[in-house]
Amino acid sequence: MSGPLVLAIETSCDETGVAVVRGGRRIVSNQVATQIALHAATGGIVPEVAARQQLRWIVPSVEAAMAEAGVGWDELDAVAVTSGPGLIGSLLVGVNVAKALAVVHDLPLMGINHIEGHIYANWLTDVPMEDPLPDEPPFPLLCLVVSGGHTQLVLMADHGRYRLLGQTVDDAAGEAFDKVGRLLGLPYPGGPAISAAAEGASAATRFPRARTAGPYDFSFSGLKTAVLREVAGYRERGAAIPVDGLAAAFEEAVVDALATKTAAAAEEHAVAAVAMGGGVAANRSLRRVLRDRLDALGIPLLVPPPAWCTDNGAMIGAAAGFRYASGDRAGPALEAVPNLSLAWADA
Ligand code: KG4
Ligand code: ZN
Repeated sequence: MSGPLVLAIETSCDETGVAVVRGGRRIVSNQVATQIALHAATGGIVPEVAARQQLRWIVPSVEAAMAEAGVGWDELDAVAVTSGPGLIGSLLVGVNVAKALAVVHDLPLMGINHIEGHIYANWLTDVPMEDPLPDEPPFPLLCLVVSGGHTQLVLMADHGRYRLLGQTVDDAAGEAFDKVGRLLGLPYPGGPAISAAAEGASAATRFPRARTAGPYDFSFSGLKTAVLREVAGYRERGAAIPVDGLAAAFEEAVVDALATKTAAAAEEHAVAAVAMGGGVAANRSLRRVLRDRLDALGIPLLVPPPAWCTDNGAMIGAAAGFRYASGDRAGPALEAVPNLSLAWADA
């Protein structure tokens, strides 16, 4: 067994994730308490409610992760926590609990960027402790981060070295899934619901693909308006709304935009592989279409299992593994930063 043993906490949104990760790669335990059922009642996240639930679940989640790992506090090397980006009330819960645990157990504290966590989910494995680790993702690595709050194409030259190639100029991909899901009367969250509705359905129409100034930027708000207009048209005519067919047409448009630009960036920058992360990376159609496009270029696609794409503590532990090695430590003044950005390098 090698590498630091890190207790990692993720509370940036509506999932309370706590994990123990060895060396940034081996998941020793991984507990996720989700608020999905609660937010389904309101059709979306109410930040105040999310923060209160984080408070409700953080201590039981830490206890469960430590129990599942079967390790003592004295065996840990650090406590890592998502310090941003995210909802301030939710972030504060994790950051303050992590600070308290670090002080009480005399452990170094590490602040981790949530986006970096989504990227490093690609380093996680669940191979048995005694088995050798599979190869690490190779550099240069193109990362497509697609979550409820972010849509970014990031070129990684090495560990911790990020260059932003493009991002959404309006809604994030997951946000578009959630908003369109609501428009179509599907349950929250819209991503999995649209994906299920679209499965096996043929597209009811072809939505236009957005044009953006930057070659690797994305725009999804026009698409959302196009779905709204289409739904309104059916209502005016008193016709039944073909929910599955519209879900398929919407998903096709989002997947096409993401896959086309990702494949183009991968080719231009001659990357060794493409990696996906974030909740939308759990989308089966996106995984399939992007894999096909990259196969044609001979570039491998890495995608974490769906449970590691959506928010979880293990991905924070993965990023912390590499930051620990480079001596990165947060002081007791670590703050929750709702709009925290990755540090962009030029190359
Ligand atoms: O990464 P994540 O768990 O939280 C954020 O950091 O935002 O991503 C949540 C987002 C939601 O918008 C959800 O609808 C979307 O990921 N999502 C999906 C799927 N599963 C989750 N979108 C499309 N297809 C899915 N299967
Ligand atoms: Zn996330």
